[in-house]
Amino acid sequence: MSHTLPKNFLWGGAVAAHQLEGAWDVAGKGVSIADIMTVGSATQPRQITDGVLPGKYYPNHKAIDFYDRYKDDVKLFAEMGFKCFRTSIAWTRIFPNGDEEEPNEAGLQFYDDLFDECLKYGIEPVVTLSHFEMPFHLVKEYGGWRNRKLIDFFMRFAEVCFHRYRNKVKYWMTFNEINNQTNYENAFSLMTNSGIMPRPGEDAQKAMYQAAHYELVASAKAVELGHTINKDFQIGNMIAMCPIYPLTPQPEDMMAAERAMETRYWFADVQCNGQYPNWLEAFQDAHHYDLDITDEDLEQLKRGTVDYIGFSYYMSFATKAGQDTTEYEFNENTDLVKNPYVQASEWGWQVDPVGLRYAMNWMNDRYHLPQFIVENGLGARDEVTADGRIHDAYRVDYLRKHIEQMKAAVEIDGVQLLGYTPWGCIDLVSAGTGQMEKRYGFIYVDENDQGEGTLQRSKKDSFYWFKQVIATNGEDL
Ligand code: BG6
Repeated sequence: MSHTLPKNFLWGGAVAAHQLEGAWDVAGKGVSIADIMTVGSATQPRQITDGVLPGKYYPNHKAIDFYDRYKDDVKLFAEMGFKCFRTSIAWTRIFPNGDEEEPNEAGLQFYDDLFDECLKYGIEPVVTLSHFEMPFHLVKEYGGWRNRKLIDFFMRFAEVCFHRYRNKVKYWMTFNEINNQTNYENAFSLMTNSGIMPRPGEDAQKAMYQAAHYELVASAKAVELGHTINKDFQIGNMIAMCPIYPLTPQPEDMMAAERAMETRYWFADVQCNGQYPNWLEAFQDAHHYDLDITDEDLEQLKRGTVDYIGFSYYMSFATKAGQDTTEYEFNENTDLVKNPYVQASEWGWQVDPVGLRYAMNWMNDRYHLPQFIVENGLGARDEVTADGRIHDAYRVDYLRKHIEQMKAAVEIDGVQLLGYTPWGCIDLVSAGTGQMEKRYGFIYVDENDQGEGTLQRSKKDSFYWFKQVIATNGEDL
């Protein structure tokens, strides 16, 4: 059987509300967890402050002012030929604190207008409900996703969005990169996924497993509910896919890599297969975690399996066995090693196009579901030349090599793929570092890491290249 990219393949671009909209306190919007993160760098982590403090610079407050400029930006996406545009709905525009009974109409109207603008050009919105931007109030008052009440607050938000946009949005995702929190020792991952700042003496790993469970129940409930609101909805999960290789063919390294993959991707097992994997149940029992996981929850997980797997792919990882060759517990903070066969970006991300094909095959064998590459790209510094052009051949090279592997996965390996939306199609605030100068876009935005600049948009060389890729449905790379 031969496969090619389907005619209706969803080429487009991806962003998240908090990384480009700005207007952080406009039209009733509440403070989100993205609003309390300062700017960092490749070597300096972002600070997570206890609220918005005077004298600190918070890059998401202004971002690239997409809130006021979205019409011009969507027009540029249309010029590139986008078939779809992935964004998220800022929870705090709809429920400013997260625990209100009634939504904020001005926030709902903004997304009506944005989706209408996309649809005007035949661009299909692809929407993530929760993308690293939960209300800060839910962190302060409820302890974030440690608290079962968050399921109800999230469902209120999901229901309002599903109803309101039921005739405008077909493709949804529940939680962005829900599996980043595997790295529970990383403050950014725990906060962005679950709104958790570990308390003194708290077992962060246990807190993560409890929070993740509530999120998975909420995700399953949302999938089930969404299908009752519009049976044509396609509701996916969203995982950060970084396949983990064994450093050597030594059997112990292979086993360590296997456990590392299980540890990083069990979230997808639950969302796609509707149940916890055996190794994890054994692991949680062995740790006497005694989590709040009810029989009703387990039934809910079965009823809310996803329609497709949304995933990001930027890089691969490698690991090797440590002292423990019985339990093989994987700690993402300490157990990753450098892969000598691949180059890393300035930010240490290991560039590996073949890893994308490998990951797509791995997921296909395990989950048997359509896939959607909803993020891929190279964060790099761009230079504006004297004539105002941006010659980003390195970005084209990265994307071309990944698209080649993506096509091989579809055409040779038979993976069913819905679409491809490179990350940060317009330059935006980096989630990990808060920088503007870690750029992914086809469209350059004149703004630096301190928020200085005209915000003027210009087309990079990659803009014209990607336009041609879309026009030829991926034939002309
Ligand atoms: C993913 C996120 O982790 O990668 C995005 O879903 C993020 O929000 C993207 O921006 C790239 O990461 P970074 O740290 O370079 O912005």
